[in-house]
Amino acid sequence: MSIISLKNINYTYPLEEKQTIHSFSLDLEKGCVYGLTGANESGKTTICNIIRGFIPELYKGELTGEVMIKGKNINDYNIGDLATIIGYSFQNPFTQLSGVKDTVYEEIAYGMENIGVSRDKMIQKVNEILKMFQLEDLIDKNPFELSGGQKQRVAIASVVALDPEIIILDEPTSQLDPKSTEDIFEIIQLLKKQGKTILLVEHKVDLLAAYCDEILLISCGELVMQGPVKEILSDPKVVEYGGQLPQVALYFIKKAEANGSSASQVPLTVQEVYDHLNKDGEA
Ligand SMILES: Nc1ncnc2c1ncn2[C@@H]1O[C@H](COP(=O)(O)OP(=O)(O)O)[C@@H](O)[C@H]1O
Ligand SMILES: [Mg+2]
Repeated sequence: MSIISLKNINYTYPLEEKQTIHSFSLDLEKGCVYGLTGANESGKTTICNIIRGFIPELYKGELTGEVMIKGKNINDYNIGDLATIIGYSFQNPFTQLSGVKDTVYEEIAYGMENIGVSRDKMIQKVNEILKMFQLEDLIDKNPFELSGGQKQRVAIASVVALDPEIIILDEPTSQLDPKSTEDIFEIIQLLKKQGKTILLVEHKVDLLAAYCDEILLISCGELVMQGPVKEILSDPKVVEYGGQLPQVALYFIKKAEANGSSASQVPLTVQEVYDHLNKDGEA
């Protein structure tokens, strides 16, 4: 059984004539990391909101098709249960902050407070999360006075603190420098090891190549490509659909084209190039 299953979803925002999501079907398996990518305005955030139930609950509009979470129709969940199962870090980290807490420490504890976690357990968890996200130096700061990147890390940390089975991260690294971006991807890898299912909206394909199991490519509200990272991120069709390919893959595809050969075994990351060269005794 898939942990998340979308069956033939169509969706139109209120007051819009044009449909945003068309015949969208998708099955996500427990414990895998999925990279959802595609051009701006292609519908990535809309899909996240559908899976989390914010569409149609908050956004209204016209939704048809079926959303199943852990084998149960999303309409049969109460809102609280769904919030416990699915953690969601919004595209804009500003939206995520509670607005009622004065320090980073309290902000991260806030969600646990709401669901009645015991004090001892809460303190232990907050400390663990602060360490994981390297936020120890910021505990006394007001969340609203943080930089964009710091806000983003606090926002993701407060989602992970609640220990949801499914984690949706909508462009979690958009405000982050390369080092903090890598750190978030390392955390994603750790969460995968804990058995979490992760849906990651991201443009940084070089990192998707290194950390994801599967790629989902969306174009104009349709799921146009889906498959293992190696298969999708070496396929020039991705670019035609408005997506991006890893720099390394592009280089090898161009090289193969120049040689008139097909590029089926394209390396996607620098590490893969290195391994490949070592194997051939060329390095
Ligand atoms: N609240 C809304 N009301 C009406 N249209 C919207 C709303 N949010 C997004 N859209 C439209 O839906 C399409 C998909 O948007 P979105 O899901 O945000 O794409 P992405 O996350 O891939 O950039 C865009 O054309 C966008 O303008
Ligand atoms: Mg978006």
